[in-house]
Amino acid sequence: MSPKRLLAGRPEMQIGATVFAGFVVFLGIIIAWLEVTPIEGQKGICRMAEAASGKEDEFRSTNQTAFVVGHTGETGRALVEELVNRNIFQKLLLIGRRELNYEGEKYSKLEQKVVDYEKLADDHADLFKGHNVGFCCLGTTRGKSGAEGFKRVDHDYVMMTAKLAKEGGCGHFLLQSSQGANKDSSFLYTKVKGQVDAECAELGFEKLSIFRPGVLMVDRKESRPGEWFARKMLTPLKYFAPTVMTCPVETVAKAMVNAVLSPSDKPAEIYENKAVHLLAKGKSC
Ligand SMILES: NC(=O)c1ccc[n+]([C@@H]2O[C@H](COP(=O)([O-])OP(=O)(O)OC[C@H]3O[C@@H](n4cnc5c(N)ncnc54)[C@H](OP(=O)(O)O)[C@@H]3O)[C@@H](O)[C@H]2O)c1
Repeated sequence: MSPKRLLAGRPEMQIGATVFAGFVVFLGIIIAWLEVTPIEGQKGICRMAEAASGKEDEFRSTNQTAFVVGHTGETGRALVEELVNRNIFQKLLLIGRRELNYEGEKYSKLEQKVVDYEKLADDHADLFKGHNVGFCCLGTTRGKSGAEGFKRVDHDYVMMTAKLAKEGGCGHFLLQSSQGANKDSSFLYTKVKGQVDAECAELGFEKLSIFRPGVLMVDRKESRPGEWFARKMLTPLKYFAPTVMTCPVETVAKAMVNAVLSPSDKPAEIYENKAVHLLAKGKSC
């Protein structure tokens, strides 16, 4: 029997289908509205994005160095690639619990150090000394590490990194947080992210840039079924409303580099998902 004939005989199914269709249309309207509605400070972010474009040579001439923590992850790898391609630092120190293999002349300014995060302050504080800029893309999941393990990495390790960076003289700290971060949230993930954002702000960096991307769009090497499912469900949004809930890791990386080249006037700036997209656009913002 065709679905039409099946529905024809069942009024309650017809009503259900109509309600569902109405809900989908309503959701579509909300998402479209979110996509086209400008965010607060949009013009300023676009000015920053435009100013960043073509500023690489000028910045390179200032001979700055940076460190990246979490460089082996999906965003971290995209960030290293972006930094290497734009070649803005005199030296780039990659700090992590393992090394990656980089071959080729363009990676010649990279140096890698393997650390034990449990002994970060005691044994590795020197690594954080004297950098102008620090990037942090560290993080795990509750599924992978349990609730305590998640807090240890996403809060404790990140805060240890931020404190060492501040003590080491880092002038601009760039932190990858998450959409929905809120220290008062009742969800562990968003609560921890919000707490870290707030605690980093209290450290008093000369410049602090916090990035809150939505669901990261990337062909993740590691198997994370929940995240995979969310990505599949959100794939249409990537095309029709790209700045609402999703963010490719390359976009986060571009936004971070543009925030270094053309920082905000404010000492601490939070870039929500749409702002991350705008900042990443450069001249075409
Ligand atoms: N997944 C999303 O959709 C999403 C959305 C918004 C924000 N975020 C946040 O963005 C950040 C980066 O996400 P991502 O997906 O790019 O990260 P990822 O691929 O999971 O990589 C995380 C990084 O943290 C390191 N790490 C994890 N557990 C560790 C531990 N116990 N000890 C030392 N290092 C550890 C990893 O090292 P190894 O490579 O050695 O494991 C890797 O360098 C995270 O804070 C995440 O919460 C994620």
